[in-house]
Amino acid sequence: MANVRFESVTKRFGDVAAVDAVDLDVHDGEFVCLLGPSGCGKTTTLRLIAGLETATGGTIRIGDQDVTRVGPKDRDVGMVFQDYALYPHMTLLENIAYPLKVRGAKLAARSERTREVARNLQIEHLLDRMPGQISGGQQQRTSVARAVVHKPRVFLFDEPLSNLDAKLRLEARAFLKRLQRELGVTAVYVTHDQAEAMALADRIAVMDQGAIVQIGPPLEVYRAPRTTFVADFLGSPPMNLIPVRLQDGVLRNDAFALPAPRHLRDLGRHEGQDLSLGVRPEHLELCDPGAEHAISGETFGLEPLGPETLVSLDVGGTLVVVRVFADEPPRLEGDAHVRVDAEHLHLFDGDGVRID
Ligand SMILES: Nc1ncnc2c1ncn2[C@@H]1O[C@H](COP(=O)(O)OP(=O)(O)O)[C@@H](O)[C@H]1O
Ligand SMILES: [Mg+2]
Repeated sequence: MANVRFESVTKRFGDVAAVDAVDLDVHDGEFVCLLGPSGCGKTTTLRLIAGLETATGGTIRIGDQDVTRVGPKDRDVGMVFQDYALYPHMTLLENIAYPLKVRGAKLAARSERTREVARNLQIEHLLDRMPGQISGGQQQRTSVARAVVHKPRVFLFDEPLSNLDAKLRLEARAFLKRLQRELGVTAVYVTHDQAEAMALADRIAVMDQGAIVQIGPPLEVYRAPRTTFVADFLGSPPMNLIPVRLQDGVLRNDAFALPAPRHLRDLGRHEGQDLSLGVRPEHLELCDPGAEHAISGETFGLEPLGPETLVSLDVGGTLVVVRVFADEPPRLEGDAHVRVDAEHLHLFDGDGVRID
């Protein structure tokens, strides 16, 4: 077991800083998800841990070892690639046993360990097949088996579920989580899927343009996003962000005026400024016209999802989504009114940084 530590790690490709002075400490046995949009530097971060890329600057440690210049074979990590990267001309047995082979294990030991892992992952009956002769879900398990076979100190996953269909993805998600818990291995897991990150992670590190913009337990990041970027990236649908101006302690725009929440200590500094009001769809509630502190808008669309309905409103040109928990979708047409729970209201300054 081992922790993984980045100290001001940078990776440049020409002019692009794919990873830009990142500090990160993944604790022993912890499951950290790197979450962010395509191109933000997730895969590069993972490849830096694996030793498949060499850092341009900074220090990478695994356990108490400085591995910044250590080759992949000697880093004791297991990686599951997005496209699984199985060797097409080798049987599953040979694929899974490969990390043992390159580390010099004897044939008998290789075979025994490979069968043990394959049995745990329920692919033992497929060991003589070639990767082209098994399903996507089985390829994914084979790839996981290859990553764990040499008992690495660190697991690395690069969007391992993105090639599976929705149902299989949920199953595989639960399975990976359980596997990591059972083995107690430190894991770094890359995904652009916020639900996956919420479900799996002990801590989520949200990345944007090569930097970690926020790291914390999933619910903490969800409830207190540090920036509008994080607020917008976590949650489906994401947090509503409505432009407002703070004037005399009131948040105004063309469609409404709300008293600014009192729990924000630093608000005084932002008097007269344009801000973003953030509120999650589940913290808005349909109400009667004329209710105190109501926001009014025009009904734009209804999406009944079963246990809940997503109601979209046009509020002075901004789309605002309300999550209504009810078996029956609300009957709505024309004007609609919603109440904001002041306690769950967030404000962000002109740079998109949260005001506390
Ligand atoms: N081998 C490479 N050569 C040049 N640019 C690269 C290379 N790998 C990644 N990049 C660039 O680095 C940035 C981050 O890429 P990547 O880590 O793959 O992002 P993500 O996995 O979050 O989609 C992107 O701008 C990408 O184009
Ligand atoms: Mg990637």
